[in-house]
Amino acid sequence: MPAKEPIILGIESSCDDTSAAILQGRKILSNIIASQEIHKKYGGVVPELASRAHQQNIIPVVDHALKQANVKKEDLSAIAITRGPGLLGSLLVGTSFTKGLSLGLGIPIIEVDHLQAHTLAHFIDMGNPTPNFPFLCLTVSGGHTQILKISDYFDMELLGTTIDDAAGEAFDKTAKIMDLGYPGGPLIDKLAKIGNAYAYNFPLPKIQGLNYSFSGIKTSFLYFVRDELKKNNNFIEENKADLAASMQRTIIEILMLKLKRASRETGIKEVALAGGVSANSGLRDAIIKGEKSYGWNTYIPPFQFTTDNAAMIAIAGYYKFIKGEFLDIDFAPYSKARHKI
Ligand code: KG4
Ligand code: ZN
Repeated sequence: MPAKEPIILGIESSCDDTSAAILQGRKILSNIIASQEIHKKYGGVVPELASRAHQQNIIPVVDHALKQANVKKEDLSAIAITRGPGLLGSLLVGTSFTKGLSLGLGIPIIEVDHLQAHTLAHFIDMGNPTPNFPFLCLTVSGGHTQILKISDYFDMELLGTTIDDAAGEAFDKTAKIMDLGYPGGPLIDKLAKIGNAYAYNFPLPKIQGLNYSFSGIKTSFLYFVRDELKKNNNFIEENKADLAASMQRTIIEILMLKLKRASRETGIKEVALAGGVSANSGLRDAIIKGEKSYGWNTYIPPFQFTTDNAAMIAIAGYYKFIKGEFLDIDFAPYSKARHKI
């Protein structure tokens, strides 16, 4: 690594994880994540509680990231911060902290879009091959479901998106109906491993083009379970693995149908996965199978970079640092996804 590679502090606070990471060039020196347990008892993220927890966590998390990286704050070249999309109160904690630190240290701020960062996590140097441009990226998280055509680090075209709920919400809602806990994705994933994925069938949505919809299957699952519970009080308990496996299979089928179509229509066979739902073992297997079935080269992030983390913010910051793209201090965060990202 050249001696002068910039040292970037990345900070992520868009939802319920407070995270700080240090990267030197593309090399990761630390990546600290404080997940907020408080939301579990409410079955979902409570925005006001999230911003309060970020306030408590942000200083110790940044401090921990610097210590683990063995970097002094005076050695930092810049701070990369998630500007949006996300919960405004949570974003404000990260952005305000960043402004203060940038002023104190006299170093620039780099704005990062959270969704762009999920896709750029593939470029963190882990000794693994990186996708070749242009590549398709299926970004699936608790808030978003998108197929992107990525022609360069910051040249991303939105080919398809969800018209209602995100894939992660479908996982979380399934778990909520079954009273499994929050976040539901990992719990469904675990149960699905011991269930029969073909025990139950739920209808696939008929949505035009490369867009997605997940509200329909959420509702059909809810009605199906409600009707079965009328006949047998223990229906969920007795069939939870089969229910989880069948819903997981359906969500993956929906995701894969449009991804295959996007690959056919664009002729692009470099295919990547990103976002929290890319931790799902069934989805990872389905994408990897595409190598044999469709001649794809596939790229799946290591587990620690699937859900929200600041290393992905720092890598996006690194590519902007190279371009000299910095932000004036009077910026405000944004809550909604920007259509052209
Ligand atoms: O990217 P992320 O950490 O936060 C957002 O930006 O939304 O994604 C969180 C989502 C949640 O809906 C969670 O249930 C889901 O990712 N998730 C999973 C798995 N691990 C996390 N969904 C399915 N299977 C998993 N193993
Ligand atoms: Zn995310």
